Amino acid sequence: MASKSFFTINKFYDDHAISKDKKRGVDFYKNVKPENIEGYDHHKYVHYIPSKSWQIKRLLKASKITCNDAIFDYGCGKGKALYEFSKYKLNKIGGIELAKELADIAKINMQKLNLPNVKIVNGNALNFTELDDYNYFFFFDPFSVDIFKSVINIILTNYKKNPREITIIYMNLRGHDKYLDTIEGFIKHKTLYNPVRSVIYKYNP
Ligand SMILES: C[S@@+](CC[C@H](N)C(=O)[O-])C[C@H]1O[C@@H](n2cnc3c(N)ncnc32)[C@H](O)[C@@H]1O
Repeated sequence: MASKSFFTINKFYDDHAISKDKKRGVDFYKNVKPENIEGYDHHKYVHYIPSKSWQIKRLLKASKITCNDAIFDYGCGKGKALYEFSKYKLNKIGGIELAKELADIAKINMQKLNLPNVKIVNGNALNFTELDDYNYFFFFDPFSVDIFKSVINIILTNYKKNPREITIIYMNLRGHDKYLDTIEGFIKHKTLYNPVRSVIYKYNP
């Protein structure tokens, strides 16, 4: 069980983050109860938690991303990871979010941060196939292994049409890497234990 000091530190971090949001006129951290989001099956999908700046920094550094790369966030929520990606001057940044309420907030956040080129789609990752422009795919634990399998198959179908080296970054693993290990061509590039168990895979068979 997590200790009292763990919760106190986390609460302190969240309070600080909310007040920083307020100063910039954005909303990444205000709590949203999944059961209050219209049309959202909170038993099926992981609810929104924003990634933290240091987590994205560590993962991107380990992934060896460069300004020629383009990254797509599966389950972008209010766009916190998208904002962190924007600090790296990448070729293209985009994301998809199932919950309309969150996708709308993400769009407003990007406007307020003057990031008009960050592309946000409101929809289900299972139906999204416009991946040609991206070669990095980021997952902060948005869904179950079953949905992850289908999404990886969409990425691999896109690869056949448009071959390039593909990088998968998965933060907060719950067995998702086991599926990647079964597919020829995926090579584990790095495992990190902080932030939470995360992996980076490269695919270029
Ligand atoms: C843990 S949050 C990650 C937020 C964001 N990526 C970040 O790092 O700040 C996971 C998000 O995935 C979204 N999600 C869950 N299932 C999805 C699906 N099938 N398609 C698109 N988004 C989904 C949830 O609504 C939630 O906002």
